[in-house]
Amino acid sequence: MQQLTTRGWRKIKSVLYPLPPRARNDYATHVPVLIGVAGMSKVERVLELGCGNYSTKTFLNRSAFPHLKELRSLENDPLWAKTMRLGVEDSRCTIVFTGGPIAEALSTLDLDYFDLIFVDDSATSEQRAATIKAVSALRPQNPWTLIHDYEFEDYQRAAAGFVHRFIFNAYNPETGLVFNLKNERQTDLRQLNQRLKANCTRLDPDDIDGWLRVLRQ
Ligand SMILES: C[S@@+](CC[C@H](N)C(=O)[O-])C[C@H]1O[C@@H](n2cnc3c(N)ncnc32)[C@H](O)[C@@H]1O
Repeated sequence: MQQLTTRGWRKIKSVLYPLPPRARNDYATHVPVLIGVAGMSKVERVLELGCGNYSTKTFLNRSAFPHLKELRSLENDPLWAKTMRLGVEDSRCTIVFTGGPIAEALSTLDLDYFDLIFVDDSATSEQRAATIKAVSALRPQNPWTLIHDYEFEDYQRAAAGFVHRFIFNAYNPETGLVFNLKNERQTDLRQLNQRLKANCTRLDPDDIDGWLRVLRQ
């Protein structure tokens, strides 16, 4: 029997499992995933690639991320970095302006220092894919890496070097989880995805309090 190519399988999958309609607030569909993942493990140190009113403020929300000690955020848009610094007053958070592609700023970091990496950066998909490739090339063993807009095939290809992957697909845009070490939480990840799916039609993605009620009972 002829073997299916990756591209062929992706085509069949898009017919069999079409994406749900794109969320009205498509900038925020990672928020419930962040909250859910924080409920699964003790997340103390987060590296955020691309800051904003959704992810940055979710990480700093003490109910959503009760163990957070440090949020380091890399941002390559100077105006946006300044705006966010003014909007976020929290000693746990540092917003670092990179002055170039985020991908180039990563080589100076010890990614294994972090428990969670969140990729949602840049003005172009090429730059975001380069960021994902750069994270993957550093082969982090400790953190889980979450990638927003993961339904985008270029991002999945850029993440191909990771050993394990999981897709949170309650909302469109989707959020991917990739990691290299130990794949022992598949059941928990599937259960979290089911809870997101069961509640995504009645809760907006940025309803932090609503998602906390659902995910932290
Ligand atoms: C998708 S946004 C990041 C959103 C952020 N992670 C969040 O969840 O709120 C990607 C990039 O767009 C740029 N950007 C420029 N203006 C922006 C704005 N008003 N809101 C969010 N991002 C903006 C920044 O460089 C930012 O890192």
